[in-house]
Amino acid sequence: MKSLANKNILLGVTGGIAAYKSAEIVRHLKKSGASVRVVMTKSAEEFITPLTLQALSGNRVSTELLDTESEAAMGHIELAKWADGILIAPATANTIARLSSGRGDDLLSTVTLAFDGPISLAPAMNQAMWRDNRTQDNLNKLLTQDFGICGPGSGEQACGDTGLGRMLEPLEILEIFSSSFDKGVLSGKNVLITAGPTQEPIDPVRFITNRSSGKMGYSLAHAAIEQGAQVTLISGPVNIEPPSNCNVIAINTAKEMSDAVKHHIKEMDVYIGTAAVSDYSPAEVKDSKIKKAGDNSSMILELKENEDILKFVSELEDRPYVVGFAAETDKLIENAENKLKHKKLDLIVANDVSDKSIGFDSEENEVTLITKEEKQLLKKQNKKKISKKIIEFISGRINEQNN
Ligand code: PMT
Repeated sequence: MKSLANKNILLGVTGGIAAYKSAEIVRHLKKSGASVRVVMTKSAEEFITPLTLQALSGNRVSTELLDTESEAAMGHIELAKWADGILIAPATANTIARLSSGRGDDLLSTVTLAFDGPISLAPAMNQAMWRDNRTQDNLNKLLTQDFGICGPGSGEQACGDTGLGRMLEPLEILEIFSSSFDKGVLSGKNVLITAGPTQEPIDPVRFITNRSSGKMGYSLAHAAIEQGAQVTLISGPVNIEPPSNCNVIAINTAKEMSDAVKHHIKEMDVYIGTAAVSDYSPAEVKDSKIKKAGDNSSMILELKENEDILKFVSELEDRPYVVGFAAETDKLIENAENKLKHKKLDLIVANDVSDKSIGFDSEENEVTLITKEEKQLLKKQNKKKISKKIIEFISGRINEQNN
């Protein structure tokens, strides 16, 4: 964890079962040298007492918007001026909704309105509430307004459900929160990345897919986050843990990926299409398992073309910087250049997927970055290093555009 020594940290505690972990967050913040003040919502007091957090932080806990004991009864302004950073942990679905609509009807929401520095949220809620479109919309709005996010994690929940929505452990939260004080080259930028394969159902038990593992897209997400970007990752089914400080949207089919991209593309500064999106899906999905004829006859499966998501993004009127990947088995550069032109991209990353040691489901990759003006070969190396260089290249180009 990066040092928080001499930083003034305001911890907002809202009403969820994970509020008991706030005590540990206060303890770790103090241990790392930060001064801590705590603001609690009314419902947070049902889960943990102000006295506990007061004893651990060494400061009076604030709960009221109109507090006669605070300077000129304007506790929210005083707290907003005092804080270097605000961490809200746990952040309930209700708090996220209220913050996204700019409400100022309690002390915590008012302080966040009056505060100019980094604010991070550690969401904690039931998995269905987390997945709900309204929560995702509210969160997305906050992310595009420079709020940071720590988690949530996946696993067993207090209510017995399993899935995304669990608050991260205190040290995991503080690891992410402390890095929000560093400014990277993509600081303040919103980046949307698609990753992994799609699955196109044929019947209830079969689908068409490909060998994408998601490694390339996930390491790009890590590299963009390291450079201070706010990342939304739309991912097909893969077996990798996503970075905890980005908004992850899980999809299965190309249509679901396309819908999710359309839902989140507004306000994005960069779009990176790493996903191996199926070009076709079965024209008809059977309701029950297809039985074999058993007479050695062949079976014809009719396919229909899926929408080209990358092309949709590059044709938007107010488009982000658009990056596509080209997975080619022959004529690598020629085919990639055609895609750059045809899909009207700013950058295409060409990889030769006929070589088993790079491309699909491998630890390494070798790529050529192609724009209208230049070509740059990034020699074979692991996907983490390649990703860092791709992100550096992209940030260089968007910073040039802005100057
Ligand atoms: O996931 P890994 O195992 O790490 O493997 C990484 C990778 C090989 C999948 C990755 O490096 C890669 O090349 N991704 C693009 C795969 C692909 O579908 O390429 P394509 O040449 O068919 O498509 C070109 C571009 O159009 C891609 O950016 C793709 O995301 C996009 N596309 C394609 C079809 C479609 N319907 N919509 C799209 O947006």
